[in-house]
Amino acid sequence: MLGKIIYRLKQFYFGMFSRYTKADQTFARNHLNIQEMALFNQLPGFEKKHAIVVARKMLDASSNYPKLDKRKLVKLGLLHDIGKVLEKNSIWTKSILVIIRFFFPNYYDRLAEKGKENHRYRRYYIHKHHGAVGAELLEKIGESSDILSIIALHDPRVHPLGFEPPLEQQILNQADSTY
Ligand SMILES: [Fe+2]
Ligand SMILES: [Fe+2]
Repeated sequence: MLGKIIYRLKQFYFGMFSRYTKADQTFARNHLNIQEMALFNQLPGFEKKHAIVVARKMLDASSNYPKLDKRKLVKLGLLHDIGKVLEKNSIWTKSILVIIRFFFPNYYDRLAEKGKENHRYRRYYIHKHHGAVGAELLEKIGESSDILSIIALHDPRVHPLGFEPPLEQQILNQADSTY
């Protein structure tokens, strides 16, 4: 419990004070095509930075798995939270959502359920289901099915990891859960 709170405080601090730099933008451009980049650019700065950090960690981890496709790992890192382009959250509204989920998980689930139909609660639905929402967006620009399935299922809170998830998904979850 305390560990989770510390992690979230670090995440908030990181969101407030780290900047999406020119070098980050070049890194993203070098790994995404024009359509992917157009989506990526719609993320708020703190989500872009998070995606860059996750992608770089995955690139580092790839040295332990020489058989895996490095570019695919980086792409997964960059695009895993792309569903959040529809959330339109600031760091503050995101923090409120995370606090509600942490302290009132049943209430959070109810709000997310309401957001399926009701536009006013849409933000909660997208926050909870950003993996599936992101996969739908990426399908429209022709992303491959294995990338789509990993992104759709990347949040272990929504889809607990199965008996043996693909290695790429395990590497993504590891990179996504640390800062
Ligand atoms: Fe996510
Ligand atoms: Fe993430």
